[in-house]
Amino acid sequence: MRRNKETILLVDDEEKLLAKLAAIVENHDYAVLTTTDGNEVIPMMENFPVDAVILDLVMPSLDGMTVLQRILDKNSSVPVIMLSGHGTISKAIKAIRLGAFDFLEKPVESERILITLENALKKSRLERERSLLIQDALERYQMISISEAMKKVFTLIEKAAPSNSRVLISGESGTGKELIAKALHLRSDRAGEPFVTVNCAAIPEELIESDLLGHEKGSFTGAYRKQIGKFEQASRGTLFLDEIGEMSLRIQAKVLRAIENGEIQSIGAKDSICVDVRIIAATNRDLKEAVRSKVFRQDLYYRLGVINIYIPPLRERKEDITILANHFINQYCEERKRDPVELSPGAVEMLFRHNWPGNVRELRNLIEKAIVLANSQTISGEEVRGYIEQNRMSADKSNIAGNTLSEVRMNAEREVIRSKLMANGWNYEKTASELDISRATIFKRIKELGIKRDSHSDGNH
Ligand SMILES: Nc1ncnc2c1ncn2[C@@H]1O[C@H](COP(=O)(O)OP(=O)(O)OP(=O)(O)O)[C@@H](O)[C@H]1O
Ligand SMILES: [Mg+2]
Repeated sequence: MRRNKETILLVDDEEKLLAKLAAIVENHDYAVLTTTDGNEVIPMMENFPVDAVILDLVMPSLDGMTVLQRILDKNSSVPVIMLSGHGTISKAIKAIRLGAFDFLEKPVESERILITLENALKKSRLERERSLLIQDALERYQMISISEAMKKVFTLIEKAAPSNSRVLISGESGTGKELIAKALHLRSDRAGEPFVTVNCAAIPEELIESDLLGHEKGSFTGAYRKQIGKFEQASRGTLFLDEIGEMSLRIQAKVLRAIENGEIQSIGAKDSICVDVRIIAATNRDLKEAVRSKVFRQDLYYRLGVINIYIPPLRERKEDITILANHFINQYCEERKRDPVELSPGAVEMLFRHNWPGNVRELRNLIEKAIVLANSQTISGEEVRGYIEQNRMSADKSNIAGNTLSEVRMNAEREVIRSKLMANGWNYEKTASELDISRATIFKRIKELGIKRDSHSDGNH
C-alpha cells in the first residue's frame, strides 16, 4: 500500500546544499528527511519509512561508500542515489557497481534530481509489486509435508532452485511434480519472469514443434499468423516440459538442439534466435527404462536430469496424510468462506488405511468432495470410507485411471500384478508363472511400479 507522500532521505555534510536539495524535493511533493551525519542513516531508515536515499559520497564523519555498504548489508531494497563532487566520478561508478541506483554530479540541477528520483522510485515500486506477487504465489503453491521422505526433496529444492541447473522431476501421477516445478521457479531469481508449461502428452505430434519453437506466418498450410513458441515465451524465465516421457524422438532431437545451443529456429524462419530459459522437466514414466528401450534419447536424458528429484508416492509417506488433509480443508473452506470442517478420528483412520494410487491429487479431490457433501461440521469415518470405495470402483470400471497412455498402462500393470499377488498370498513364483513372466521380471516390475505389501489394503479385498 502506498502512503500519500513518498519519503526521501537526504544525506550531505554541507548544510547549505542540504537545504537546497530539501527545497527542490519538497516542492515536488515528496516528504523529506535530512541529516549531515552518515552515522545517522541506518537508525533513521530503521525508524522511518524511507523510500529513497540521496547520499553524498564524501563526508567527514562517515563516508558515503561505507554508508551505502551498510544500507546494502541490510538487504534493503530502498534505492540509493549518490551525490558526487569534483573528482569523485570514478568513486561514483564504483558505488553503482556496488548497488547504488545512479549518481548525480554536483552542482545538481533540480530537473536532473527529480528525474533520477522518479526513475529510482518507479523501479523500486515495480520491484515491490513483483516481490508481493512472488510472495503471493509462494503461498498459493505452498508445499506441505512432515515426512522424512519429503525432507530430502525439500533440501534438493532449496539447493537446486537458485542454481539455474536443469532439473528432472519424477514421481507417480498426483505426487506434486508440477508444484515442485513451480517451487523451483519461484525460489530462483527468475521468479518474476514467466513460467511456461508444455504438456508434451496433450499436444498432438504435428503441433508440438510449432508449439515449442513457434512458426512464421505462411510457413505451412494453416499458419495464418506468426506464432511465438513456448521456448521464446519463457525467455528469461522457466520452461516446464511436463510428461517429457511422451515426447517423440523427432521432437526430442529438436529440444536437444535448443538446449545445447541455447538457440531456437521457429518453423519457416531464416535465422535462429538465442533464448535464455531454464528447463525443468517432469515424468511419471521410468525414463531410464525408456532410454534402455530406445524410446528416449540418452543424451537428452542426461542433459535434462542435471539434478534429479524423485517424489515418493503418498502411500510411502503416510505421515503426510493428516497434515495434507487439514491443509486442503483450510484452503477450501477459506476459498469458499465456510466454517472449517473437522475430520473425526474415524475419518483420519480411513484416510490412513487407503493406499492412494492417485496420490495427493486423489486426497485433495476426496477432501473437497467430503466438504461439499458434508452434513455436519465433522466428517465421519463412514463418509470417508464411502468416497474411497467410490474412487476404487470408478478406477476399476475405467480399468485404471490415468491421464496418459503410459500412465494408464503402468497403473493397469500395477493393479494386475498387485491383485494377483494378493490372490496368491504374495507368492511371487506362482504369480509370475500365472502372469507368464519370469521371476526376475516380476521383482523388477514390483520395484519399478512401487508395489508394496500393504496390510490395510489386503484386508479390503
Ligand atoms: N506437498 C504438497 N502440498 C500441498 N499440495 C500438494 C502437495 N503435493 C501435491 N499437492 C497438490 O496435489 C495436486 C496434484 O499435484 P501436481 O499437479 O503437482 O501433481 P503431478 O505430479 O504434476 O501429477 P500428474 O503426473 O498427474 O501431472 C495439486 O493440486 C497440488 O497442488
Ligand atoms: Mg503434472
